[in-house]
Amino acid sequence: MALIIGVVSQKGGVGKSTVARLIAREYADNELNVLIADLDLSQSTSFAWNGRRLENDLEPAIAVQQFRKVDAVLKLQDNYDVIVFDGAPHATRQTLEIARHANMIVIPTGTSLDDLIPTVQLAHELRKNSVPVKKIGVLFSRVGNSQVEMDEAAEYIQMAGYQLLSGAIPERTAYRRASDAGKAATETTHASTNERADEVVQAVINHVEKLLS
Ligand SMILES: Nc1ncnc2c1ncn2[C@@H]1O[C@H](COP(=O)(O)OP(=O)(O)OP(=O)(O)O)[C@@H](O)[C@H]1O
Ligand SMILES: [Mg+2]
Repeated sequence: MALIIGVVSQKGGVGKSTVARLIAREYADNELNVLIADLDLSQSTSFAWNGRRLENDLEPAIAVQQFRKVDAVLKLQDNYDVIVFDGAPHATRQTLEIARHANMIVIPTGTSLDDLIPTVQLAHELRKNSVPVKKIGVLFSRVGNSQVEMDEAAEYIQMAGYQLLSGAIPERTAYRRASDAGKAATETTHASTNERADEVVQAVINHVEKLLS
């Protein structure tokens, strides 16, 4: 049975696909057989990214498939060590379905109230639907340089009752350039951006390990 991680958000463009690929790449780098289930059929972001990854012959290889339904992904649970769901935005019903089956749910979010409010709303919705709070990890993505803004956003998440994963992915051109070349956020051309992404993905992996232990 595969370990299942769902990367979801209500809002679009917060970094779900970027984070899903980062997590998948890290597990694949540890010799695990990983599938990204791309549920965003209208954009196929991760599927197209993998096309570029294959064209550029990058290692480790990661399987990416497109799916219309969560059920179809679950049928493949015995074929993989890890399945990472790259969720579509504005897909509450499907997000709930992913959350019911996932070992962990990662919600990437920006630090403005425009982002934080829908993030907490989604987390509340998950909780209302019997998803244990401990399974939910909020992850700061596309953040700016203000520590004050980060601290206030962290307080907002914690006051709402949710766990904030340590680290944050900053907004950097290097991540977009990496993605354009079929690379994950730990495969940029700058050590500093790779390190920031690595800290975040290690926090996800540690959280999953704690949940499983
Ligand atoms: N940390 C970052 N720094 C700079 N650009 C980023 C960063 N994270 C993501 N991006 C860029 O922002 C855009 C949206 O990112 P991404 O596709 O990961 O978000 P998403 O939540 O999956 O979006 P959607 O809701 O449309 O599926 C992409 O162009 C991506 O390359
Ligand atoms: Mg996406």
